[in-house]
Amino acid sequence: MERLETRDLVIRPPAVEDAPRAYELMNDPAVRLWNPTGPCPDLEAAEKWLRAGADWSEGNHATWSAIDRASGLMVGNVSLFAIDTDDLVAKIGYRVHADARGRGVARQMVDAVTRWAFESRDLMRVQLEHSVHNEASCRVAAVTGFVLEGTARSAYAVPDSGDREDCHIHGRLPGDPGL
Ligand SMILES: CC(C)(COP(=O)(O)OP(=O)(O)OC[C@H]1O[C@@H](n2cnc3c(N)ncnc32)[C@H](O)[C@@H]1OP(=O)(O)O)[C@@H](O)C(=O)NCCC(=O)NCCS
Repeated sequence: MERLETRDLVIRPPAVEDAPRAYELMNDPAVRLWNPTGPCPDLEAAEKWLRAGADWSEGNHATWSAIDRASGLMVGNVSLFAIDTDDLVAKIGYRVHADARGRGVARQMVDAVTRWAFESRDLMRVQLEHSVHNEASCRVAAVTGFVLEGTARSAYAVPDSGDREDCHIHGRLPGDPGL
């Protein structure tokens, strides 16, 4: 089942029709700072990114667009990546449009996709990493049941600056409480 539903969202694989909103997301300053996608100069680049997100054939990622039920607008992107079917682990990454922040979009996306990882892919651990300076992401991790397990030193290359930052490592296991 690749379509997930939450209180406010339909979470489904990316589609090229998402391109105008994906363009906005990819060029958002906070996204470019904390979770960059690579350059997005035009809608064509956004479509290419969406097509790559929709192609799960290599088995190493599963990526979705989150659609707000009320407006029909894309409000975020969430991805399980670095899926390792030997160790049954994956990482999770997420981005929310600036005009949709602060109303639970990340919380719902992260919880729904993590449950999907456990229930549909039989994974035994999902890992969430963020720069120690990204307080919003740390809060998302905490409210969705990702336990803070440690700090990886110098793990994040801050885009376009040459600076490096430490990262928090959070993990959630199938038995951990979620939302
Ligand atoms: C981080 C991000 C995904 C949060 O998305 P969001 O939809 O606004 O988050 P939610 O509304 O689900 O909030 C979840 C929790 O985080 C808290 N939170 C959200 N933004 C926050 C901020 N700027 N500072 C502190 N806490 C914040 C919320 O209050 C909420 O906690 P609560 O339930 O205790 O009130 C969003 O700001 C974003 O896309 N940032 C840029 C990309 C990014 O940082 N991605 C993650 C990289 S690791």
